[in-house]
Amino acid sequence: MSASKDTLVAWQDDFGLGLTEIDDQHKSLFDLINRLWAAVVGRADTAEMMAILAELEHYTLSHFAAEETFMRVIDYPGFAEHKKAHEAFVGRLGEEKKSILAGKHFSLEMLRFLKDWLINHIMVMDRAYAEVHAASKQPKSMFSRLFQRFF
Ligand code: FEO
Repeated sequence: MSASKDTLVAWQDDFGLGLTEIDDQHKSLFDLINRLWAAVVGRADTAEMMAILAELEHYTLSHFAAEETFMRVIDYPGFAEHKKAHEAFVGRLGEEKKSILAGKHFSLEMLRFLKDWLINHIMVMDRAYAEVHAASKQPKSMFSRLFQRFF
């Protein structure tokens, strides 16, 4: 995993889906993963790690809720599979929080999982609904208010 002291994963234009609100939310998730990375590098204590993990979990839940509403509105056929992937990710985050509370150190493997999952998910599953939306020719602007409801 190539990383600097402060950045594990940097945003690249290729990650963009052409949906401003969703892209901004994904950038915020990258920022949170980088904060976790910086906390690991800086040997943060359990309380600090838990605070960042809780923030990541909260932001992730809001992002997934916004995205799932968007998929429903555009009548996306892959909704059920996508929602299942979201649920699995949230479950993994919850397990990690429990392990840390039980005394386990936050692992580099977990960081690698978060980074790889997010990039793969954006590039494959999120891109799939964005393409369905783009083909539908619905104006992007009609969704701005919808996204604002979640944050
Ligand atoms: Fe952007 Fe499906 O998570």
